[in-house]
Amino acid sequence: MSDGGIVRIFDTTMRDGEQAARINLNTGEKVQIARALERLNVDIIEAGFPASSKGDFDAVANVAAEVRIPIIAGLARTKEGDITSAGEALRGAARSRIHTFIATSPIHMEYKLKMKPDDVLKELERGVKLAVSITPDVEFSAEDASRSDINFLVEVFTLAIESGATTLNIPDTVGYAMPHEFEEFCRAIITRVNKPDVIWSVHCHNDLGLGVANSLAAVRGGARQVECTINGLGERAGNASMEEIVMCLRTRKDHFGADTKIDTTKFYPTSKLVSGLTGVPVQPNKAIVGINAFAHEAGIHQHGMLCNRATYEIMTPESVGAPGTDLHLGKHSGRHAFNERVETLGYQLTTEQSASAFEYFKELCDKKKDVSDGDIEAFLFDRILRLTPEIRYELRDFTVTIGSGGKPTASITLAHDGTETTEASVGNGPVDAAYKAILKILPFQPELVEFHIRATSELADALGEAHVILRYKEIKAQGRGASTDIIEATMRAYLEAVNRLYSVAAAREVAI
Ligand code: KIV
Ligand code: ZN
Repeated sequence: MSDGGIVRIFDTTMRDGEQAARINLNTGEKVQIARALERLNVDIIEAGFPASSKGDFDAVANVAAEVRIPIIAGLARTKEGDITSAGEALRGAARSRIHTFIATSPIHMEYKLKMKPDDVLKELERGVKLAVSITPDVEFSAEDASRSDINFLVEVFTLAIESGATTLNIPDTVGYAMPHEFEEFCRAIITRVNKPDVIWSVHCHNDLGLGVANSLAAVRGGARQVECTINGLGERAGNASMEEIVMCLRTRKDHFGADTKIDTTKFYPTSKLVSGLTGVPVQPNKAIVGINAFAHEAGIHQHGMLCNRATYEIMTPESVGAPGTDLHLGKHSGRHAFNERVETLGYQLTTEQSASAFEYFKELCDKKKDVSDGDIEAFLFDRILRLTPEIRYELRDFTVTIGSGGKPTASITLAHDGTETTEASVGNGPVDAAYKAILKILPFQPELVEFHIRATSELADALGEAHVILRYKEIKAQGRGASTDIIEATMRAYLEAVNRLYSVAAAREVAI
């Protein structure tokens, strides 16, 4: 295949995806995701929007310093401050890209930008030229392109190329396009602009559930870069899902005559990592990475599969890194078996992380006979992978009483600043009682905005895994906790969210 058949994968999980998640990832977590994307072999990682906050700036700078193979991109409006901030954040990158954008649709120009088309042209020319003076790799996006006038777009893209942009992006910002018309739209722009040396890109949102279909249609129309996210994370209904686009191109290479450089066997673990760190679950029937994506329930299907897997399987679970049968480990499993299972599940731990993970695994084996994949993943996220910047409040002790008569009561001891404080409370249930007791100890009163609890496997002795989101003033933070005791899991999750609230508040200079 000539290079014309390679579609570049531009990941925007940490920019457009995170923009939509209800909570923020911290820099260490973004670096972990960036490393996973590097292992996946994506071409470009959009690590954030540096001018939007100090947290985003730091995340882009850290990813740029630590992840060396993919191009690292930072988003910027065409404004001078945005572009210089992106340039600054990307300074340490081995290969950097400034991705600058301005809206081109009549509705955005009139109501959002309050600019005339001629002013938009002047602004983009100035912005692209400034970006090119910082780095030679500049991408220009015409926001809301799919609702823009095509003649104006041809003018816009021609000027962006003349100003030095080498990648031109045609976004379907509001997910409005239909695949057949979007294919024609992209083809017409590419043909009319007629600059064979540039790369044409698309960026499709999923408001009508067509993000992937439109991205693929654009590839047929000549696009050679697609912007997408892991698990389809993103604004509103999300962005086009990377795993779906890539597996369509791979499985139907015959149809598209194009492919990507992605190592598809890394999809499943990357999806788990993104879901675990953002707290946004993957629906079970999600194509490619859902837990049921390769499950065959109907007897007739199972019979076919036994005769020949190709009867009902157009791609194998192995090809996307799905770990297959849930193999339970127990107290006789040694370090080697444990490490191997963690690796099969797709986690790459440092020597230090794997030593602590094994230690916790052994503790867990004293409490329960079988340790499932779900248990391992839950405690990896609870104790190893999630990075709480500073532990201010720690659970030291608790007693919770429940029964059919009387109100549930909790007595909780927390450690803070070298001292221990105990408080007790009653509540409508044991979790309510425990949270009320914690609130008596805290010097501020965060609001609980989300609370979920689930079992990590179908067995009665599964770990309980809790996820909470707390809000204080305008800040939100999430916490996750896993334990054989579900009440302990809920308290761990709550306290992690409290500790994260402190660090987000410090970064945003909000007093607690
Ligand atoms: O949806 C959109 O148009 C964007 C641009 C900044 C590319 O996210
Ligand atoms: Zn977008």
